Formats: sequence, structure tokens, C-alpha cells
Amino acid sequence: MAEAEGDQVQVSTFEPPVDFARDAHVGSFEQYEELHRRSLEEPESFWREITDQFVWTKPWTKLREWNLPFTRWFVDGELNITVNCLDRHVENGLGDKIAFHWEGEPGDTRTVSFRELLEDTCRFANGLKSLGLQSGDRVVIYMPMIPELPVAMLACARLGLVHSVIFGGFSSDAIRDRVQDASARAIITADGGWRRGKVIPLKDNVDGALTDDECPSVEHVVVYERCKNEIEMADGRDIWWNDLIEGQPADCEPESVPAEHPLYILYTSGTTGKPKGVVHAQGGYLIQTALTSKWIFDLKPDDIYWCTADIGWVTGHSYIVYGILANATTGVMYEGAPDYPAPDRFWEIVDKYNVTVFYTAPTAIRAFIKWGDEWPEKHDLSSLRLLGTVGEPINPDVWLWYRRVIGGGSCPIVDTWWQTETGGILITPIPGAITTKPGSATLPFPGVDADVVDESGNPVAPNERGLLVIKRPWPSMIRGIYKDGWGQPGHEGEFGDRDRFFDQYFKRIEGVYLAGDAARRDNDGYFWIIGRVDDVLNVAGHRIGTAEVESCLVQHPAVAEAAVIGFPDEITGEAVAAFVTLRGSFEESSELQAELVNFVGERIGRFVRPKLLRFTPALPKTRSGKIMRRLLREIATSGKVVGDTTTLEDMAAVAALQGIDEEE
Ligand code: WT7
Repeated sequence: MAEAEGDQVQVSTFEPPVDFARDAHVGSFEQYEELHRRSLEEPESFWREITDQFVWTKPWTKLREWNLPFTRWFVDGELNITVNCLDRHVENGLGDKIAFHWEGEPGDTRTVSFRELLEDTCRFANGLKSLGLQSGDRVVIYMPMIPELPVAMLACARLGLVHSVIFGGFSSDAIRDRVQDASARAIITADGGWRRGKVIPLKDNVDGALTDDECPSVEHVVVYERCKNEIEMADGRDIWWNDLIEGQPADCEPESVPAEHPLYILYTSGTTGKPKGVVHAQGGYLIQTALTSKWIFDLKPDDIYWCTADIGWVTGHSYIVYGILANATTGVMYEGAPDYPAPDRFWEIVDKYNVTVFYTAPTAIRAFIKWGDEWPEKHDLSSLRLLGTVGEPINPDVWLWYRRVIGGGSCPIVDTWWQTETGGILITPIPGAITTKPGSATLPFPGVDADVVDESGNPVAPNERGLLVIKRPWPSMIRGIYKDGWGQPGHEGEFGDRDRFFDQYFKRIEGVYLAGDAARRDNDGYFWIIGRVDDVLNVAGHRIGTAEVESCLVQHPAVAEAAVIGFPDEITGEAVAAFVTLRGSFEESSELQAELVNFVGERIGRFVRPKLLRFTPALPKTRSGKIMRRLLREIATSGKVVGDTTTLEDMAAVAALQGIDEEE
């Protein structure tokens, strides 16, 4: 460890440990620099070398196209991602290797080998085929963290079906919106899932989304029995998972699809009230998630890798399922909460399975710190050799605690920056090659041309804040925002909602991908991610659009207008605050306050519930009618307005809000 001189702060630096670097896939800074240079200057040979390690039914001859906003990779290649995640490992003699050590929250466990995962995938794919589902059809998956969740995803991919996984924390309204947007033909779910000793009623939530024939596209609902909670099965529509696979053979011919065939849609929050369906393609996504997994997590045949994310988010798609299976790595999968039955559940699991690589979110680490060092100290964590974080900026002191208490003072830490749209990690340390600084995601991965620029697209000076941009496409880049008809006959050459896609990512600064994050680069060129520049919140690593919460609140009969902002929270990074004006006949009360908080929880999901909800006679607005979120943020954070208010349309609104605060 050495002290380096940054322009603004003194930061510690940590060089890759010598013995770690010696055995690493990328073992020196020079090697990293050469890979990065070659990936940008000689992309054909760089990617050819990588893609040759995979199974293609038809090898590509054309590397890529880039017609803003659209990119295509390995353009004329054909493959099936599941062959690369399963079949080839079994064929290479790894059939008995463990794919997943699974741990249910109540303490039940299962072990799934690569052969079993392949056979389960094939049986279930045959079941889906028997329902009449065909390549290109959309299938929504809403499941707990059980092995059947990756099985369902892989079975879809095997048939060329486009899956859309919805996080189990979402409620009926969120499911309905997504099912409708994707016009899904089928939903795969479970009766329930375990969370802190309680059953999450997943099937009930699906039923709630399908009431009054609100989702006419849905023909089938497949239900896995997990918790044996009471549910209703609709005649002719609902079928038990076990009945569907009954008698199905354990092999299923994989559909060879063009590399650009959509693999999945994953909905994520943007700046409008409607979540965006981010589309990823089979070929580029496979290559990038596999390569980043291998180099960033330095995966070796003996590793036991554990990513604690839920598969319902992109982290789980890329780094529990596809990228990790593509490397034939043994993963751990855990169903429940980190503090159930006690705050050492994670450390018990690390100890039990001898986890070597551990990947989690800063919000979880902040909770561990709060719960106390005694919980990790009760367990032997010496199997760990590498730690990772993702999802939000990590405070340097939290990084240092993670290294010292969980990493035994010796594990390298990879702080990985990426997004649902990027598909894979783009800015990150490579642990055997790049010296780390706590709080910095360090440098771009090979193939990634990143920069921090001003509004005109010019690079900003070192240590100055600017906008994070990616200047050329990468293989797992978002292919577009889903719109009905994508890839269907009659819609050839149409890639979804072009205008929304272009406006969102390529308009503000022409010709480059705008990430939506503020960042700075230090004197060494290291990237420091500051946070979102748009109206997207990051609550416990979960992305929440303020507009979504606002449009939910105004659906309540008592609410006239709502403004939602984020404010700092010690554990979750940001928390949701809502400011609400009531319709004439409604009175402010603590009951109504609680009701509105629950309303958001029940409609969208518990994790979106406002931590703070205030009534106000009016919302502060500019003369042009824009809500002054900065003022609301100041009120939520400090209770006072300190900034400039001269553009305020209604000073009384601010006064009223400050008044409320002073009363408390
Ligand atoms: C946003 C993307 C990537 C999987 C999980 C989140 C923030 C992500 C980092 C990091 C600072 C980060 C950004 C980004 N973010 N990783 N290492 N340091 N911020 O995916 O839900 O699409 O959210 O998460 O603000 O834009 P997502």
C-alpha cells in the first residue's frame, strides 16, 4: 500500500498482490494496456481470438456495424448461447462438475451439475415447445432465486424465445406493465418464494396482473411448486411445472440463431413513467459476459464463485447465469435475505462452500458494517481470494472495511461499473493487472472507449466533473428499446422504438453513448463515478425512475400532484422522498401518509416505498411549470432551502414545505 497524491484528496492505492498477478489471466499492467490498445486498434483479430473459443454453428465473417443508434456484432454468425453455457462443457468432460450450489432460505439445499442443468433445461424447453411457443415469442419469468429460474431462462434461450425476467420484489402493476409491453405469450412463475421467513405470494401477484383480461397476450402460466402456499390455478391457462415436463426427453435440439437474435428483454427505469425494455442479443452478450467474467473475476477451474444479486436484475443475468456458466464455473445461488435467520447468513455460506470469489453491492456492505464485525468474524473466510462490488459508488471507507474485514486484508477488490444497457462490465479493475484506489472503478475494459466530457462532447480536464460517455459500440451493448413487432415477419429491419432509443442515449452529445452518469478522471486517468445526472434514483443498488413513483402516486384518489426525489441514506445510498398535494376533499393525516407509502409498495414493489412522504399545499415550480427538484432535495436532506430561488413561481410553496419541516 502506498500513498498517492490526487489533486483533491490523498488516496491509498493497492497494487495487485504479486502471487495473485502471477497466476492471473491478465497479470500485468503492460498486458492490460496491450490488450486494450489491440482491442481498439485491431478489433478484428482481437475479437476473432476470443470468439474462436466458443461454439458457433456458423462462424462470423463481419465483425460489426454501427449505424447510430444501432449496432450489430458478429453480424453473420450463428450460434446458441446455451450450447456455450452447457453442452460444450458436458462434451468436454465437465458433466459432473457442479454448476450451482443452491441454498434455500429455510436451509434446504440442492446441488446441480452441468449435466443436470443441461437435462433440466432440455426437459423444460421441450415442455415450452409443447405449449406451441416459437422462436421470437416473449416469455415473462417471475420466480424466486431457485435453480428453476436459470433453467427457465436457458430453456427459452435454447428455443430462441425471448425471456423477460421480472424481479420477485415487483408487484402486480409492474408485472402487468411489462407483460403488456412485451406482449408475452407465457409467464413462468412459482407459487411463492421465501424472504425473511415469509412467503412472497408470487402466483397471486401474477394473478393480480392478469385480472380483468388486462394481459390478453398471455396464453399460458407455468407454475413451479416452491412453498406449497395456497394458490389458484386457472383452468386451461395455468399448468404446473412438473406436469409440463412429465415424460419430456432430456435432450432438445438447440435452435441455431443469428448472433443478433434477441436473447432477452430486461425492463429498467428511465426518466419517463414507463420502464424501458432493454434488448440484448445472443452473440455479443455471450462473448462479452463470458470474457468479462473470466478476466475480471479471474475465473479458474477450481473457483467457487458467488454473486449475491437477484437474477431479476442485470447483474444476475450476466454474472450468475450466462457469463459464469459460459466459463464452466461453479456458482453459489442463495434464495433469501442476508440477515435471515441472523446477520451472518452470507458468511456462513462463504464458509460452508469455500467461496473464492465474492461479488456484492455497496449497500449490502454498508449494512454489514452497521451489523458489526462480530458476524463475519464468527466464520472462516480464508477461502476468499477476490472481492467485487457493483451497482453504486462505494465510499472509500466502506471499500477499506470490505478489504480488511471480509478480504482478510489481502484480497483485491474489483469495483465494477456498468448498466443494464451495457450488458457487461465496462469500467473496472482487472485484479492481477490494475492498481486499485478505494472508490474508483479505475479503467476501461478491453474493447471499451470511455471518456468524461462536457456538454459539447469535449473531454474535461483531469479531476473535473463531466458526463460519462462510451465513444464506440461494444459487443453486449443494448440493441434497442423493445417495441411490439421486433424481429417479427413484416417488421424486418425494425429495431424497436428507434426515437426513444436515440433520444435517450445519443442525442444530448452527438455520436456517442451517454451513460447518464456524472464522473471525473484523476491524474492517472482513473474513472470516479459520481452518480446519475437524470431523474433516476439508485436505492440499495436498485434503479428507480422518479417519474414511475410519481405516476403511481397520482393514481391514488387522494393525490392531486406528486414530486419524487432521492436523498442520501446511510445504508441504501439514496432513499425515496415524495412530496404530495391532496385533492380538495382530502385531509392530511398520518393514516393517509402511511396509506400512500403502502400504495407505492403494493403497486410497484416494497423496495420502492418512499422513506419520507410529505404533504404540501403546492409544489415549488419554475415559471415554465417545471418542478424544482433541487429545492425538494435540499428540503429532504437538510430541511432548509439554501440555493437560488429567484425562478420560483410560487414562493409560498417553498415556505410551506419549510414550515412543515420546522414543525417536526
Ligand atoms: C447505474 C446502472 C450494473 C448492474 C447493476 C446496476 C450505477 C453501477 C456502479 C459502480 C458507481 C455504479 C450507475 C449506473 N452504478 N455500477 N461500480 N460505481 N455507480 O445496473 O440498474 O442498470 O444501474 O448504476 O449510476 O448508471 P442498473
